[in-house]
Amino acid sequence: MNFKISVVRDIAAVKADCLVLGGFSDREHWPDSVPAALAEQLDMLRDGGDLSAKPGQSVWIYQPRDISSKRILVIGCGNSEEWNASAYREFLDGCAGALQNSPVKSAAIALPAEVPGQDDAWQASQLATTLTAASYRYDATRSEVEPPPRLRSVTLVRASKGGQAALKQGLREGHAIGNGVLLARELGDLPGNVCTPEYLAQRARKLARGQQRVTTTILNEKQMESLGMGALLSVSHGSSQPARLITIEYRGGDEKAAPVVLVGKGITFDSGGISLKPGAKMDEMKYDMCGGASVIGVMQALVELQADINVVGIIPASENLPSGAATKPGDVVTSMSGLTIEILNTDAEGRLVLCDALTYAKKYKPAAVIDIATLTGACIVALGNHNSGLLGNNQPLADQLLEAGRNSGDGAWQLPLGAAYQKQLKSNFADMANIGGPAAGTITAACFLSRFTEDYHWAHLDIAGVAWRQGDNKGATGRPVPLLMEYLLHTSS
Ligand code: BES
Ligand code: MN
Ligand code: ZN
Repeated sequence: MNFKISVVRDIAAVKADCLVLGGFSDREHWPDSVPAALAEQLDMLRDGGDLSAKPGQSVWIYQPRDISSKRILVIGCGNSEEWNASAYREFLDGCAGALQNSPVKSAAIALPAEVPGQDDAWQASQLATTLTAASYRYDATRSEVEPPPRLRSVTLVRASKGGQAALKQGLREGHAIGNGVLLARELGDLPGNVCTPEYLAQRARKLARGQQRVTTTILNEKQMESLGMGALLSVSHGSSQPARLITIEYRGGDEKAAPVVLVGKGITFDSGGISLKPGAKMDEMKYDMCGGASVIGVMQALVELQADINVVGIIPASENLPSGAATKPGDVVTSMSGLTIEILNTDAEGRLVLCDALTYAKKYKPAAVIDIATLTGACIVALGNHNSGLLGNNQPLADQLLEAGRNSGDGAWQLPLGAAYQKQLKSNFADMANIGGPAAGTITAACFLSRFTEDYHWAHLDIAGVAWRQGDNKGATGRPVPLLMEYLLHTSS
Protein backbone atom coordinates (compact mmCIF):
# COMPACT_ATOMS: atom_id res chain seq x y z
CA MET A 1 0.00 0.00 0.00
CA ASN A 2 1.20 3.44 -0.93
CA PHE A 3 0.46 6.45 1.29
CA LYS A 4 0.88 10.12 0.40
CA ILE A 5 -0.24 13.59 1.36
CA SER A 6 -1.89 16.10 -0.90
CA VAL A 7 -2.69 19.73 -0.10
CA VAL A 8 -5.79 20.94 -1.93
CA ARG A 9 -8.03 23.91 -1.35
CA ASP A 10 -11.02 22.14 -2.92
CA ILE A 11 -11.59 18.43 -2.41
CA ALA A 12 -13.91 18.38 -5.44
CA ALA A 13 -10.84 18.67 -7.66
CA VAL A 14 -9.19 15.53 -6.26
CA LYS A 15 -9.23 12.68 -8.76
CA ALA A 16 -9.43 9.31 -7.02
CA ASP A 17 -11.63 6.24 -7.29
CA CYS A 18 -13.11 7.38 -4.03
CA LEU A 19 -13.17 10.38 -1.72
CA VAL A 20 -13.53 9.43 1.94
CA LEU A 21 -15.07 11.84 4.43
CA GLY A 22 -16.03 11.50 8.04
CA GLY A 23 -19.43 12.77 9.09
CA PHE A 24 -20.62 13.58 12.60
CA SER A 25 -24.27 12.98 13.39
CA ASP A 26 -24.65 16.41 14.95
CA ARG A 27 -22.03 18.73 13.56
CA GLU A 28 -22.59 21.48 11.03
CA HIS A 29 -19.00 21.62 9.91
CA TRP A 30 -17.23 19.64 7.19
CA PRO A 31 -13.47 19.66 6.53
CA ASP A 32 -12.24 22.97 5.05
CA SER A 33 -11.47 21.36 1.72
CA VAL A 34 -15.15 20.42 1.16
CA PRO A 35 -16.74 22.97 -1.21
CA ALA A 36 -20.09 24.59 -0.35
CA ALA A 37 -22.18 22.66 -2.87
CA LEU A 38 -20.93 19.31 -1.62
CA ALA A 39 -21.31 20.40 1.99
CA GLU A 40 -24.97 21.11 1.28
CA GLN A 41 -25.47 17.63 -0.12
CA LEU A 42 -23.71 16.08 2.86
CA ASP A 43 -25.82 18.15 5.26
CA MET A 44 -28.87 16.50 3.76
CA LEU A 45 -27.37 13.10 4.40
CA ARG A 46 -26.80 13.99 8.03
CA ASP A 47 -30.19 15.67 8.49
CA GLY A 48 -31.85 12.66 6.93
CA GLY A 49 -30.42 10.56 9.76
CA ASP A 50 -28.00 8.55 7.61
CA LEU A 51 -25.08 9.33 9.93
CA SER A 52 -26.83 8.83 13.23
CA ALA A 53 -25.77 5.28 14.02
CA LYS A 54 -22.56 4.47 15.84
CA PRO A 55 -19.21 5.47 14.36
CA GLY A 56 -17.99 3.39 11.44
CA GLN A 57 -21.21 3.04 9.40
CA SER A 58 -20.74 3.80 5.73
CA VAL A 59 -22.74 5.59 3.05
CA TRP A 60 -21.69 5.48 -0.61
CA ILE A 61 -22.53 8.19 -3.11
CA TYR A 62 -21.88 7.19 -6.73
CA GLN A 63 -21.01 9.63 -9.48
CA PRO A 64 -21.52 12.72 -7.34
CA ARG A 65 -22.15 15.87 -9.37
CA ASP A 66 -19.26 18.36 -9.85
CA ILE A 67 -16.79 16.05 -8.10
CA SER A 68 -13.74 14.72 -9.94
CA SER A 69 -13.65 11.45 -7.99
CA LYS A 70 -15.89 8.58 -8.99
CA ARG A 71 -17.46 8.06 -5.60
CA ILE A 72 -17.76 9.51 -2.17
CA LEU A 73 -17.65 7.31 0.89
CA VAL A 74 -19.00 8.95 4.02
CA ILE A 75 -18.09 7.22 7.25
CA GLY A 76 -20.09 8.03 10.33
CA CYS A 77 -18.13 9.51 13.24
CA GLY A 78 -20.91 9.43 15.81
CA ASN A 79 -21.73 12.38 18.01
CA SER A 80 -19.03 15.07 18.01
CA GLU A 81 -19.15 15.34 21.79
CA GLU A 82 -18.12 11.71 22.12
CA TRP A 83 -15.34 12.00 19.53
CA ASN A 84 -12.18 10.42 20.93
CA ALA A 85 -9.42 7.94 20.08
CA SER A 86 -11.70 4.92 20.11
CA ALA A 87 -14.35 6.66 17.93
CA TYR A 88 -11.53 7.57 15.52
CA ARG A 89 -10.52 3.91 15.41
CA GLU A 90 -14.10 2.94 14.64
CA PHE A 91 -14.04 5.50 11.85
CA LEU A 92 -10.84 3.89 10.50
CA ASP A 93 -12.24 0.36 10.79
CA GLY A 94 -15.32 1.59 8.91
CA CYS A 95 -13.09 3.03 6.16
CA ALA A 96 -11.02 -0.15 5.93
CA GLY A 97 -14.07 -2.43 5.86
CA ALA A 98 -15.96 -0.45 3.22
CA LEU A 99 -12.91 0.05 1.00
CA GLN A 100 -11.76 -3.57 1.20
CA ASN A 101 -15.12 -4.78 -0.10
CA SER A 102 -15.21 -2.30 -2.97
CA PRO A 103 -13.52 -2.01 -6.35
CA VAL A 104 -11.71 1.14 -5.17
CA LYS A 105 -8.00 1.17 -6.03
CA SER A 106 -7.17 4.70 -4.95
CA ALA A 107 -8.76 6.58 -2.08
CA ALA A 108 -8.38 10.19 -0.98
CA ILE A 109 -9.18 10.62 2.71
CA ALA A 110 -9.88 13.85 4.58
CA LEU A 111 -9.42 13.38 8.33
CA PRO A 112 -12.69 14.25 10.11
CA ALA A 113 -11.38 16.23 13.11
CA GLU A 114 -8.61 16.56 15.67
CA VAL A 115 -8.68 13.77 18.22
CA PRO A 116 -8.50 15.11 21.79
CA GLY A 117 -5.11 14.35 23.38
CA GLN A 118 -3.53 13.09 20.15
CA ASP A 119 -1.60 14.86 17.41
CA ASP A 120 -1.71 14.65 13.62
CA ALA A 121 1.19 12.20 13.41
CA TRP A 122 -0.72 9.81 15.67
CA GLN A 123 -3.82 10.11 13.47
CA ALA A 124 -1.77 9.43 10.35
CA SER A 125 -0.02 6.48 11.97
CA GLN A 126 -3.28 4.89 13.13
CA LEU A 127 -4.76 5.34 9.68
CA ALA A 128 -1.81 3.74 7.90
CA THR A 129 -1.64 0.84 10.37
CA THR A 130 -5.35 0.07 10.00
CA LEU A 131 -5.48 0.26 6.21
CA THR A 132 -2.25 -1.70 5.76
CA ALA A 133 -3.24 -4.46 8.18
CA ALA A 134 -6.72 -4.70 6.59
CA SER A 135 -5.14 -5.99 3.38
CA TYR A 136 -4.37 -9.34 5.06
CA ARG A 137 -5.17 -12.50 3.09
CA TYR A 138 -4.12 -15.97 4.16
CA ASP A 139 -3.39 -18.07 1.10
CA ALA A 140 -0.16 -19.98 1.88
CA THR A 141 -1.91 -23.35 2.14
CA ARG A 142 -5.13 -22.80 0.16
CA SER A 143 -5.71 -23.54 -3.52
CA GLU A 144 -8.74 -21.26 -3.78
CA VAL A 145 -7.30 -17.90 -2.89
CA GLU A 146 -9.29 -14.78 -2.13
CA PRO A 147 -8.92 -12.00 -4.67
CA PRO A 148 -6.06 -9.73 -3.63
CA PRO A 149 -7.00 -6.40 -2.06
CA ARG A 150 -7.69 -3.79 -4.73
CA LEU A 151 -6.89 -0.72 -2.66
CA ARG A 152 -3.33 0.29 -3.58
CA SER A 153 -2.99 3.98 -2.93
CA VAL A 154 -4.23 6.22 -0.14
CA THR A 155 -3.88 10.00 -0.17
CA LEU A 156 -4.40 12.10 2.93
CA VAL A 157 -6.07 15.29 1.76
CA ARG A 158 -5.35 18.51 3.65
CA ALA A 159 -6.58 22.05 3.14
CA SER A 160 -3.41 23.70 4.47
CA LYS A 161 0.30 23.16 4.03
CA GLY A 162 1.32 23.11 7.71
CA GLY A 163 2.48 20.05 9.65
CA GLN A 164 3.22 17.86 6.67
CA ALA A 165 6.48 16.46 8.02
CA ALA A 166 4.76 15.05 11.09
CA LEU A 167 1.96 13.57 8.99
CA LYS A 168 4.43 12.00 6.64
CA GLN A 169 6.37 10.44 9.50
CA GLY A 170 3.11 9.16 10.99
CA LEU A 171 2.13 7.50 7.70
CA ARG A 172 5.58 5.94 7.40
CA GLU A 173 5.42 4.58 10.92
CA GLY A 174 1.88 3.30 10.56
CA HIS A 175 2.73 1.55 7.32
CA ALA A 176 5.70 -0.23 8.92
CA ILE A 177 3.60 -1.23 11.94
CA GLY A 178 0.83 -2.48 9.63
CA ASN A 179 3.36 -4.59 7.74
CA GLY A 180 4.68 -5.93 11.05
CA VAL A 181 1.12 -6.92 11.96
CA LEU A 182 0.70 -8.65 8.58
CA LEU A 183 3.88 -10.68 9.13
CA ALA A 184 2.91 -11.65 12.69
CA ARG A 185 -0.54 -12.71 11.46
CA GLU A 186 0.87 -14.83 8.65
CA LEU A 187 3.35 -16.63 10.93
CA GLY A 188 0.58 -17.23 13.47
CA ASP A 189 -1.85 -18.64 10.91
CA LEU A 190 0.67 -20.99 9.26
CA PRO A 191 0.04 -24.59 10.39
CA GLY A 192 2.34 -26.31 12.85
CA ASN A 193 3.67 -28.70 10.23
CA VAL A 194 4.92 -25.74 8.19
CA CYS A 195 5.80 -23.24 10.90
CA THR A 196 8.31 -25.31 12.88
CA PRO A 197 11.12 -23.94 15.07
CA GLU A 198 13.50 -24.23 12.11
CA TYR A 199 10.98 -22.43 9.85
CA LEU A 200 10.78 -19.52 12.32
CA ALA A 201 14.57 -19.45 12.38
CA GLN A 202 14.70 -19.17 8.58
CA ARG A 203 12.12 -16.35 8.56
CA ALA A 204 14.23 -14.53 11.17
CA ARG A 205 17.36 -15.08 9.06
CA LYS A 206 15.59 -13.53 6.09
CA LEU A 207 15.12 -10.28 8.05
CA ALA A 208 18.87 -9.82 8.27
CA ARG A 209 19.56 -10.45 4.60
CA GLY A 210 21.19 -7.35 3.10
CA GLN A 211 20.57 -5.37 6.30
CA GLN A 212 23.61 -3.74 7.90
CA ARG A 213 21.83 -3.08 11.16
CA VAL A 214 20.47 -6.59 11.69
CA THR A 215 22.22 -9.75 12.86
CA THR A 216 20.34 -13.02 13.28
CA THR A 217 21.88 -15.84 15.31
CA ILE A 218 20.40 -19.33 15.60
CA LEU A 219 21.48 -21.68 18.37
CA ASN A 220 20.89 -25.42 17.89
CA GLU A 221 20.19 -27.92 20.68
CA LYS A 222 23.85 -28.79 21.16
CA GLN A 223 24.77 -25.15 21.62
CA MET A 224 21.89 -24.66 24.07
CA GLU A 225 23.00 -27.72 25.96
CA SER A 226 26.47 -26.31 26.45
CA LEU A 227 24.86 -23.12 27.83
CA GLY A 228 22.98 -25.29 30.34
CA MET A 229 19.48 -24.56 29.04
CA GLY A 230 17.95 -27.66 30.60
CA ALA A 231 14.50 -26.10 31.04
CA LEU A 232 14.19 -24.95 27.44
CA LEU A 233 15.46 -28.26 26.07
CA SER A 234 13.11 -30.36 28.22
CA VAL A 235 10.10 -29.15 26.23
CA SER A 236 11.05 -30.66 22.86
CA HIS A 237 12.32 -34.01 24.16
CA GLY A 238 9.19 -35.72 22.85
CA SER A 239 9.26 -33.99 19.47
CA SER A 240 11.23 -34.83 16.34
CA GLN A 241 11.48 -31.10 15.59
CA PRO A 242 14.66 -29.79 17.20
CA ALA A 243 14.41 -26.62 19.33
CA ARG A 244 16.01 -23.38 18.17
CA LEU A 245 17.01 -20.24 20.05
CA ILE A 246 16.60 -17.36 17.62
CA THR A 247 18.20 -13.99 18.28
CA ILE A 248 17.62 -10.95 16.05
CA GLU A 249 19.74 -7.93 16.92
CA TYR A 250 18.76 -4.57 15.49
CA ARG A 251 21.35 -1.84 16.11
CA GLY A 252 20.10 1.54 14.88
CA GLY A 253 20.94 3.65 17.93
CA ASP A 254 24.01 4.82 19.78
CA GLU A 255 26.62 2.09 20.06
CA LYS A 256 26.65 2.47 23.83
CA ALA A 257 22.88 2.68 24.32
CA ALA A 258 21.55 -0.38 26.18
CA PRO A 259 19.03 -2.28 24.05
CA VAL A 260 15.46 -3.17 24.87
CA VAL A 261 15.21 -6.96 24.69
CA LEU A 262 11.97 -8.59 23.52
CA VAL A 263 11.56 -12.29 24.34
CA GLY A 264 8.74 -14.04 22.45
CA LYS A 265 7.39 -17.50 23.29
CA GLY A 266 7.76 -19.62 20.18
CA ILE A 267 6.00 -22.93 20.85
CA THR A 268 5.10 -23.90 17.28
CA PHE A 269 2.64 -26.48 18.60
CA ASP A 270 1.56 -27.10 22.18
CA SER A 271 -0.15 -30.47 22.64
CA GLY A 272 0.48 -30.23 26.38
CA GLY A 273 3.02 -33.07 26.14
CA ILE A 274 2.46 -36.01 28.51
CA SER A 275 -0.01 -33.75 30.38
CA LEU A 276 -1.97 -33.92 27.12
CA LYS A 277 -4.56 -31.26 26.38
CA PRO A 278 -8.16 -32.23 25.56
CA GLY A 279 -8.84 -32.64 21.83
CA ALA A 280 -11.34 -29.83 21.34
CA LYS A 281 -9.75 -26.78 19.72
CA MET A 282 -6.30 -28.27 20.11
CA ASP A 283 -5.55 -27.03 16.57
CA GLU A 284 -5.46 -23.54 18.04
CA MET A 285 -2.25 -24.42 19.83
CA LYS A 286 -0.45 -23.73 16.55
CA TYR A 287 -0.87 -20.13 17.74
CA ASP A 288 1.37 -20.79 20.74
CA MET A 289 4.22 -19.08 18.86
CA CYS A 290 2.37 -15.77 18.48
CA GLY A 291 4.64 -14.07 21.04
CA GLY A 292 7.61 -15.01 18.88
CA ALA A 293 5.74 -13.92 15.75
CA SER A 294 5.07 -10.51 17.29
CA VAL A 295 8.79 -10.13 17.98
CA ILE A 296 9.61 -10.95 14.33
CA GLY A 297 6.90 -8.48 13.22
CA VAL A 298 8.40 -5.74 15.42
CA MET A 299 11.92 -6.41 14.16
CA GLN A 300 10.72 -6.17 10.56
CA ALA A 301 8.97 -2.86 11.31
CA LEU A 302 12.16 -1.45 12.87
CA VAL A 303 14.08 -2.46 9.74
CA GLU A 304 11.48 -0.83 7.47
CA LEU A 305 11.70 2.38 9.52
CA GLN A 306 15.47 2.17 10.00
CA ALA A 307 14.61 3.34 13.53
CA ASP A 308 17.45 4.92 15.52
CA ILE A 309 17.19 2.59 18.52
CA ASN A 310 18.74 -0.69 19.68
CA VAL A 311 16.42 -3.67 20.09
CA VAL A 312 17.19 -7.37 20.49
CA GLY A 313 14.54 -10.00 19.79
CA ILE A 314 14.95 -13.47 21.33
CA ILE A 315 12.65 -16.35 20.42
CA PRO A 316 12.92 -19.71 22.18
CA ALA A 317 11.27 -21.91 19.54
CA SER A 318 10.18 -25.44 20.34
CA GLU A 319 7.40 -27.99 19.88
CA ASN A 320 5.64 -29.64 22.84
CA LEU A 321 4.62 -33.24 22.00
CA PRO A 322 4.32 -36.52 23.92
CA SER A 323 6.44 -39.57 23.07
CA GLY A 324 8.56 -42.21 24.80
CA ALA A 325 11.30 -39.62 25.08
CA ALA A 326 9.09 -36.84 26.37
CA THR A 327 9.59 -35.07 29.70
CA LYS A 328 7.26 -36.52 32.36
CA PRO A 329 5.42 -35.01 35.32
CA GLY A 330 7.77 -35.22 38.30
CA ASP A 331 10.91 -34.80 36.23
CA VAL A 332 13.37 -32.23 37.58
CA VAL A 333 15.41 -30.10 35.18
CA THR A 334 18.17 -27.56 35.74
CA SER A 335 17.74 -24.17 34.12
CA MET A 336 20.56 -22.04 32.71
CA SER A 337 20.41 -19.91 35.88
CA GLY A 338 21.27 -22.99 37.97
CA LEU A 339 17.81 -23.07 39.60
CA THR A 340 16.14 -26.48 39.45
CA ILE A 341 12.50 -26.95 38.40
CA GLU A 342 10.13 -29.79 39.17
CA ILE A 343 7.89 -30.20 36.14
CA LEU A 344 4.54 -31.09 37.68
CA ASN A 345 2.66 -30.39 34.46
CA THR A 346 4.29 -30.65 31.04
CA ASP A 347 1.61 -28.32 29.67
CA ALA A 348 3.15 -25.42 31.59
CA GLU A 349 5.94 -25.42 28.99
CA GLY A 350 5.95 -21.76 27.99
CA ARG A 351 7.63 -20.68 31.20
CA LEU A 352 10.23 -23.43 30.75
CA VAL A 353 11.42 -22.12 27.39
CA LEU A 354 11.07 -18.49 28.53
CA CYS A 355 13.08 -18.83 31.74
CA ASP A 356 16.24 -19.88 29.90
CA ALA A 357 15.74 -17.22 27.23
CA LEU A 358 15.31 -14.63 30.02
CA THR A 359 18.57 -15.75 31.64
CA TYR A 360 20.26 -15.62 28.23
CA ALA A 361 18.95 -12.02 27.77
CA LYS A 362 21.28 -10.83 30.56
CA LYS A 363 24.23 -10.90 28.19
CA TYR A 364 22.82 -7.90 26.32
CA LYS A 365 22.93 -5.70 29.48
CA PRO A 366 19.40 -4.65 28.62
CA ALA A 367 17.72 -1.33 29.45
CA ALA A 368 14.54 -3.39 29.82
CA VAL A 369 13.31 -6.88 28.97
CA ILE A 370 9.74 -7.52 27.84
CA ASP A 371 8.54 -11.06 27.27
CA ILE A 372 5.47 -11.74 25.16
CA ALA A 373 3.72 -15.08 25.52
CA THR A 374 0.47 -16.97 25.00
CA LEU A 375 1.17 -18.22 28.49
CA THR A 376 -2.02 -19.03 30.37
CA GLY A 377 -5.62 -19.91 29.71
CA ALA A 378 -6.27 -18.18 33.04
CA CYS A 379 -5.48 -14.85 31.38
CA ILE A 380 -8.46 -15.32 29.06
CA VAL A 381 -10.65 -15.98 32.10
CA ALA A 382 -9.36 -12.82 33.81
CA LEU A 383 -9.25 -10.33 30.92
CA GLY A 384 -11.11 -11.92 28.03
CA ASN A 385 -10.07 -11.14 24.49
CA HIS A 386 -9.60 -7.42 24.97
CA ASN A 387 -6.49 -6.67 26.99
CA SER A 388 -3.14 -8.41 27.27
CA GLY A 389 -2.18 -9.24 30.85
CA LEU A 390 0.74 -7.16 32.09
CA LEU A 391 2.98 -8.00 35.05
CA GLY A 392 6.50 -6.96 35.96
CA ASN A 393 9.11 -5.89 38.46
CA ASN A 394 9.38 -2.20 37.57
CA GLN A 395 6.38 0.14 37.76
CA PRO A 396 7.73 2.90 35.46
CA LEU A 397 8.24 0.27 32.72
CA ALA A 398 4.76 -1.14 33.33
CA ASP A 399 3.30 2.38 33.13
CA GLN A 400 5.05 3.01 29.81
CA LEU A 401 3.61 -0.20 28.39
CA LEU A 402 0.11 0.61 29.67
CA GLU A 403 0.38 4.05 28.05
CA ALA A 404 1.59 2.44 24.80
CA GLY A 405 -1.43 0.13 24.96
CA ARG A 406 -3.82 3.08 25.28
CA ASN A 407 -2.21 5.08 22.47
CA SER A 408 -2.06 2.17 20.06
CA GLY A 409 -5.50 0.77 20.81
CA ASP A 410 -3.72 -2.51 21.57
CA GLY A 411 -4.47 -2.47 25.29
CA ALA A 412 -2.94 -4.14 28.31
CA TRP A 413 -4.11 -4.38 31.91
CA GLN A 414 -1.85 -4.87 34.90
CA LEU A 415 -2.13 -7.73 37.39
CA PRO A 416 -0.15 -7.95 40.66
CA LEU A 417 2.88 -10.00 41.62
CA GLY A 418 3.78 -10.71 45.24
CA ALA A 419 5.23 -12.97 47.91
CA ALA A 420 1.86 -14.55 48.69
CA TYR A 421 1.58 -15.83 45.12
CA GLN A 422 5.24 -16.85 44.97
CA LYS A 423 4.54 -19.41 47.71
CA GLN A 424 2.26 -21.34 45.38
CA LEU A 425 5.36 -22.46 43.42
CA LYS A 426 6.90 -24.37 46.30
CA SER A 427 8.31 -27.83 45.48
CA ASN A 428 9.60 -30.53 47.83
CA PHE A 429 12.05 -31.80 45.24
CA ALA A 430 13.41 -28.75 43.40
CA ASP A 431 13.93 -25.01 43.83
CA MET A 432 10.46 -24.46 42.42
CA ALA A 433 7.55 -26.22 40.73
CA ASN A 434 6.48 -25.19 37.25
CA ILE A 435 2.84 -24.73 38.28
CA GLY A 436 1.17 -22.93 41.15
CA GLY A 437 -2.20 -24.65 41.35
CA PRO A 438 -5.53 -23.60 39.86
CA ALA A 439 -5.82 -20.19 41.54
CA ALA A 440 -4.34 -17.05 39.94
CA GLY A 441 -2.73 -18.97 37.08
CA THR A 442 -1.57 -15.89 35.16
CA ILE A 443 0.06 -14.44 38.26
CA THR A 444 1.85 -17.61 39.35
CA ALA A 445 3.15 -18.06 35.79
CA ALA A 446 4.61 -14.54 35.97
CA CYS A 447 5.94 -15.29 39.48
CA PHE A 448 7.82 -18.21 37.97
CA LEU A 449 9.36 -15.94 35.32
CA SER A 450 10.18 -13.25 37.90
CA ARG A 451 12.75 -15.57 39.46
CA PHE A 452 14.83 -15.34 36.32
CA THR A 453 14.54 -11.58 35.78
CA GLU A 454 15.90 -10.12 39.00
CA ASP A 455 18.91 -8.47 37.35
CA TYR A 456 17.01 -6.07 35.08
CA HIS A 457 13.78 -4.15 34.57
CA TRP A 458 11.27 -6.64 33.27
CA ALA A 459 7.69 -6.79 32.07
CA HIS A 460 5.62 -9.75 30.92
CA LEU A 461 2.73 -9.58 28.44
CA ASP A 462 0.37 -12.56 28.55
CA ILE A 463 -1.29 -12.47 25.13
CA ALA A 464 -3.29 -15.72 25.42
CA GLY A 465 -6.58 -13.83 24.97
CA VAL A 466 -5.58 -11.39 22.24
CA ALA A 467 -3.22 -13.17 19.84
CA TRP A 468 -5.89 -14.87 17.74
CA ARG A 469 -9.64 -14.92 17.11
CA GLN A 470 -11.77 -18.04 17.38
CA GLY A 471 -14.82 -19.18 15.44
CA ASP A 472 -15.79 -18.19 11.89
CA ASN A 473 -13.15 -15.49 11.79
CA LYS A 474 -10.45 -17.73 13.22
CA GLY A 475 -7.09 -16.12 12.62
CA ALA A 476 -4.11 -14.40 14.17
CA THR A 477 -4.50 -10.72 15.10
CA GLY A 478 -0.87 -9.58 14.99
CA ARG A 479 -1.21 -8.21 18.52
CA PRO A 480 0.75 -6.89 20.37
CA VAL A 481 2.91 -5.54 17.51
CA PRO A 482 1.18 -2.10 17.70
CA LEU A 483 1.65 -1.85 21.48
CA LEU A 484 5.32 -2.84 21.29
CA MET A 485 6.04 -0.44 18.43
CA GLU A 486 4.32 2.42 20.24
CA TYR A 487 6.42 1.64 23.32
CA LEU A 488 9.69 1.43 21.41
CA LEU A 489 9.10 4.57 19.33
CA HIS A 490 7.23 6.83 21.74
CA THR A 491 6.77 5.83 25.37
CA SER A 492 10.08 4.14 26.34
CA SER A 493 12.62 6.40 28.00
N1 BES B 1 -0.23 -22.23 25.58
C1 BES B 1 -0.92 -22.56 26.77
C2 BES B 1 -1.81 -21.42 27.26
C3 BES B 1 -3.05 -21.17 26.45
C4 BES B 1 -4.13 -22.04 26.53
C5 BES B 1 -3.15 -20.05 25.69
C6 BES B 1 -5.27 -21.78 25.80
C7 BES B 1 -4.30 -19.78 24.97
C8 BES B 1 -5.36 -20.66 25.03
C9 BES B 1 0.08 -22.88 27.88
O1 BES B 1 1.22 -23.52 27.48
C10 BES B 1 -0.63 -23.76 28.84
O2 BES B 1 -0.95 -24.85 28.47
N2 BES B 1 -0.84 -23.28 30.05
C11 BES B 1 -1.52 -24.02 31.04
C12 BES B 1 -0.81 -23.82 32.34
C13 BES B 1 -1.27 -24.74 33.44
C14 BES B 1 -0.89 -26.17 33.11
C15 BES B 1 -0.65 -24.28 34.73
C16 BES B 1 -2.96 -23.50 31.13
O3 BES B 1 -3.17 -22.31 30.98
O4 BES B 1 -3.86 -24.32 31.28
MN1 MN C 1 0.95 -25.65 27.45
ZN1 ZN D 1 1.81 -23.20 25.57
